[in-house]
Amino acid sequence: MDEERLDGGNTHGAVRVGDTVRRVTGEWTPAVHDLLAHLESKGFPGAPRPLGFDGEGREVLSYLEGETVGSAKPWPAWVHAAGTLDEVARWLRAYHDAVADFVPSPEAVWRQGGRWAPGLIIGHNDAAPYNAVRRDGRLAGFFDWDFAGPVTPEWDLAFVAFSWVPLHARSVVVAEGFTDFAARPLRFRRLLDAYGWAGRPAELLDVVRGRVKAHAEGIRERADDPIFGRLLQQGVAARLDQALVDLADFRV
Ligand SMILES: Nc1ncnc2c1ncn2[C@@H]1O[C@H](COP(=O)(O)OP(=O)(O)O)[C@@H](O)[C@H]1O
Ligand SMILES: [Mg+2]
Repeated sequence: MDEERLDGGNTHGAVRVGDTVRRVTGEWTPAVHDLLAHLESKGFPGAPRPLGFDGEGREVLSYLEGETVGSAKPWPAWVHAAGTLDEVARWLRAYHDAVADFVPSPEAVWRQGGRWAPGLIIGHNDAAPYNAVRRDGRLAGFFDWDFAGPVTPEWDLAFVAFSWVPLHARSVVVAEGFTDFAARPLRFRRLLDAYGWAGRPAELLDVVRGRVKAHAEGIRERADDPIFGRLLQQGVAARLDQALVDLADFRV
C-alpha cells in the first residue's frame, strides 16, 4: 500500500498507510501502547488506537481523521479561538478521568518522568496545537504520545495552558499568529474553569513556570541525544528561557 508522508512533526514525523499511521519507535513505545490500550478499553475517543508493529519495526496506530496544524505558520485561526480553549480543557479533563485508574507495569519505561507512584497519572505531556486533530469544526483529540509519562495532573495542565493560552515568549506566539496579549489572563482562567481546576489560578501559574524551567533544563541535559541536540541548536531552550522572562510580570 502507498505511504504518504504526513505534514508536521518535531522529531521523526509520521507516514500514513491506509487507515493507519507508522512511526519510529523508542524504548518507551511498549509503555505508550499499554496506555493507549487502556484508553481504548475505556472507550476514550480522543487518542489513536495501538495496532502493534509492522515488518519494518515501526509502530502502527490508527489514523485520526481530520485537520492538523502540520507545518503551517502562522497557525490556523481555530487554534487561537476562545472556544478552542474549552474544547482542549474538556479533552484534558476527560483524558485525566480515563487515565486515573491506569496502573502502568512496574517495568514500564517512559521517555519522560521517573517511576509512576500512586497520586501520579500518566500525562500526555505534549498536548499542544502541533499534536492536535480537529474534525467537523471541533477538537477531536491528540496524537504523538511519545512524551507520555508519570506526572501530577497539574503538570500536564500547565503545559496545556502554556501551549494554548498561550504563555510562550511573545516573539514565539506572534509568529504562531497570536497577538491578543490583553486577553491572556481571561483565557488562562477560562481554560482552568473548563478543566475544573479547583485551586487558585496563581497556583497553576507557578506550576507553569516550573514546567517551562524543567522543559529547558531537560533539553540541555539531554543535548547528546541527536533529537534534543537539534532542539538546543534550533534555540528551543533559549526561547523557553525567554518565556520565563516574559512571564515574570504576567498576572492572573
Ligand atoms: N494518529 C495520527 N492520526 C492522524 N495524523 C497523525 C497521527 N499521528 C501523526 N499524525 C500526523 O503526522 C504528523 C507528524 O506526527 P507526530 O507524531 O507529531 O511526529 P513527531 O513525533 O515528529 O512530532 C502530524 O503533524 C500529523 O499531521
Ligand atoms: Mg508531534
